[in-house]
Amino acid sequence: MTIRIAGTGSAFPKTVVTNDDLAKVMDTSDEWISSRTGIKERRIAKDETTAGMAAEAARAALKDAGMTVQEVDLIIVGTLSADHFTPSCACEIQAELGAVNAVAFDINAACSGFMFSLHTAYAYLQSGLYKNALVLGAETLSKIMDWEDRSTCVLFGDGAGAAVVRREEEGIFVFDQGSDGVKGKVLSCKARLVNNLLVQQGHEPDYVHMDGQEVYKFAVSTVPASINKVLDKAGVSADEVAYFVLHQANIRILQSVAKRLKVSEDKFPIILDRSGNVSAATVPLLLDDMNKKGMLKRGDKIVMSGFGGGLTWGTALIEW
Ligand code: COA
Repeated sequence: MTIRIAGTGSAFPKTVVTNDDLAKVMDTSDEWISSRTGIKERRIAKDETTAGMAAEAARAALKDAGMTVQEVDLIIVGTLSADHFTPSCACEIQAELGAVNAVAFDINAACSGFMFSLHTAYAYLQSGLYKNALVLGAETLSKIMDWEDRSTCVLFGDGAGAAVVRREEEGIFVFDQGSDGVKGKVLSCKARLVNNLLVQQGHEPDYVHMDGQEVYKFAVSTVPASINKVLDKAGVSADEVAYFVLHQANIRILQSVAKRLKVSEDKFPIILDRSGNVSAATVPLLLDDMNKKGMLKRGDKIVMSGFGGGLTWGTALIEW
């Protein structure tokens, strides 16, 4: 028993913010951002919400899979920027879609959120507990950025991607995942402060803090190792893989991973030039972009990998 992705979908906020737009309001430039990251523009939410974009992406994925909402029995959303502490983004999508037969919950594994959600769906589906899952990554990161910190705010964007996942008899699904909480501080954002009868910590909101170089070092060593682990487990060579669909944080990370795997950069498609880093959403956003362009053929071997805050990482080899 294994799983297969049967459909994909995505949604972005309407508003495009280019590097030049940012340069008008802060001390930065298109040259600095694009040469270090490959990012040219990102979408920023105005009235869009995490759950609203996720529901739109989910509807598109169900349509692509030819599946009715009543057939969905599991909804998992990878997110670190849900609209509420509770209800979860997944429960909000369930309500919005009318997916009355589904159990729904969120997973916070930062930029690995979609991969952790996919692995969790695999465990449920493969065990026979559920049959059809909606797996998503959805973020409104613009609300947790410090817009006065040019070293972080230029990197991130908003959006949502979805995949319909089906239990199937045949196919490949091999995965690896891990976490290293000891290094968690290199990419962090505090939740609400304690303000109760006993303690008053104040009401200063916190924003994303990142030690970019430490995150970079972590990514370029951990991601190739995780991919190699999955390929070894499956007995598949890197040459046999059609595409490496990696978390879209930075073009330099993708180039370094390609080099370490001795694989052509052509096998590493990108969407980060148009999306920026949308944390948990980047892998399904890119997958949907590739699907719409007709790049994915039945039987293709695809490696997907997410990495980031926690620190966390997750990789899967699938057969399309
Ligand atoms: N525009 C212009 N200058 C900027 C800037 C911006 N948006 N952000 C930072 N700078 C400046 C810094 O202040 C610094 O100036 P100084 O030398 O005068 O102090 C200079 O640029 C160099 O900064 P540095 O941090 O050394 O650059 P870098 O080469 O390490 O690149 C990142 C920064 C963030 C692009 C890089 O570290 C990176 O890609 N890290 C991985 C981050 C990531 O992908 N995180 C998400 C993972 S999920």
